[in-house]
Amino acid sequence: MNSPISPSDSTRSIHLVNGPNLNLLGEREAHIYGSTSLDEIVAELQREADARGFHLTAFQSNSEGEIVNSIQQAQHRSAFLLINAGAYTHTSIAIRDALLAVSLPFIEVHLSNVYARENFRHKSILADVAIGQISGFGPYSYTLALYAAVRHLESSEESL
Ligand code: DQA
Repeated sequence: MNSPISPSDSTRSIHLVNGPNLNLLGEREAHIYGSTSLDEIVAELQREADARGFHLTAFQSNSEGEIVNSIQQAQHRSAFLLINAGAYTHTSIAIRDALLAVSLPFIEVHLSNVYARENFRHKSILADVAIGQISGFGPYSYTLALYAAVRHLESSEESL
């Protein structure tokens, strides 16, 4: 799943980052997160990206530092980030700093509607520096985020 990115097509590359416990999708709290695995979500997004002439790479880690590394490595390889930082969304200044450091546009993604859950999930450390946030549509949150990323990148191409 942690696929390499070709440097030659970086303007049409979108990098998806998933944080802690998202490797357990499909098994974990299925009443909240559903029955679709992360591999299935990534495969579907890759199909959607390919159909639009974009390349999607994906990375998942349970470790904050590895997520920071993946964001840093995307700087010259990708044009856009989709990130579901899991619980780090609510706590990680390091991930926020990495996103600011690479200056790539990004969308914050959540399967669940974080605002309909515990108070501690209502605060995002990332949202105010994101292009936008998509929350509450299960696996379709990722698809919506991909559509928004493609639209954003295509409008940037048109304005060149
Ligand atoms: C989540 C929401 C977070 O609050 C939680 O810690 C997760 C998953 C979501 O996709 O709904 O791990 O990011």
